[in-house]
Amino acid sequence: MDALLKQFERLQRPIDLVQTLHENQLKEVPARYILPSDQRPVPAIEAPQSIPVIDLAAHHSEIVTQIAKASEDWGFFQVINHGIDLSLLERIKRVSQEFFDLPLEEKRKQCPVRPGTRMLEGYGRFFDISDDTVLDWVDALVHYVYPPSVMAVEHWPKTPHTYRETYEKYGEEVLNLTDKLLGFLSEGLGLDSDYVQTLIKESLLQLRINYYPPCPQPDLVNGLRPHSDGSVLTVLLDDQVEGLQVRKGEEWFTISPVPGSLIVNVGDLLQIVSNGKYKSAEHRAVVNTNQYRMSVVLFLLAEDGVSIAPAPELIDESHPRLYQSTISEEYGITYMSNAHRGKAPVEALLIEQQS
Ligand code: OGA
Ligand code: NI
Repeated sequence: MDALLKQFERLQRPIDLVQTLHENQLKEVPARYILPSDQRPVPAIEAPQSIPVIDLAAHHSEIVTQIAKASEDWGFFQVINHGIDLSLLERIKRVSQEFFDLPLEEKRKQCPVRPGTRMLEGYGRFFDISDDTVLDWVDALVHYVYPPSVMAVEHWPKTPHTYRETYEKYGEEVLNLTDKLLGFLSEGLGLDSDYVQTLIKESLLQLRINYYPPCPQPDLVNGLRPHSDGSVLTVLLDDQVEGLQVRKGEEWFTISPVPGSLIVNVGDLLQIVSNGKYKSAEHRAVVNTNQYRMSVVLFLLAEDGVSIAPAPELIDESHPRLYQSTISEEYGITYMSNAHRGKAPVEALLIEQQS
């Protein structure tokens, strides 16, 4: 809790949202956003290599093989025929856009930034804005969409009025999807199909809508700094504007969104459970000069108090245990207070190997 309050205090200083900077027609980005030259998002590699597209209408065993391979090689994949109505995905994008189109003061009034369950919630900025960090070119809206007991619906957007019902529906649908995906992922590790879902108990779903306005000098800034997700699994819906990049080895690859698909990635907690077999890959977002970009991101988390550890079935002489165990919400808090600084929190759990 202390860490959360500290984070809240750090955010209590006047700072423009990037949407305001864009609306003021800035010709140059303020110094606070400019990355040192060795950290700038140099051009990423486009196709031919890109993250696998997995058809969830294929044969069960085929899906298991493909998802496991994608999670080992990339930590990312896209799913099609995922069972969520495409019209619901369109409605989600529409209600989100309508909220971001509201005047700044209205957004702040409806969704003030405040400490919530395990994280800060509301509309604004959430990462470290202390003087020694370079700022990201993104604003966000953050709240839970599941379970109802942690949802502060009184601080959800009231405009448009369909926002709440649309997100409640989407939350349920994404939970069905993650339940299925965790089944495939568990089987891909040679575990019972309900292994991961049973381990994490009642899932939590955290929403983060990222809103990236056009930027006059996109090559100098991060949209979202390189990080891995502190989740079990993440499901991302984007608006078909390119910007998400994933790191594989030493190189960054741009993800070209397939229409109607959802982008799924392995989070730190699943990397731990899989004893490092599945990768929680580093990723980032870049911005561009002429287009807004929006991504709707749902982070699947474990119930409070759950101990997250490598599955014992995956450990033997040739596969030594790689990670110490961690308690779900403690990991979340450590993650948030390191927020988005590479892979530090999961790497701190690495067990030194005797050679
Ligand atoms: C995130 C994230 C990427 C994007 O919110 O954790 O990685 O494309 N977003 O917005
Ligand atoms: Ni992320």
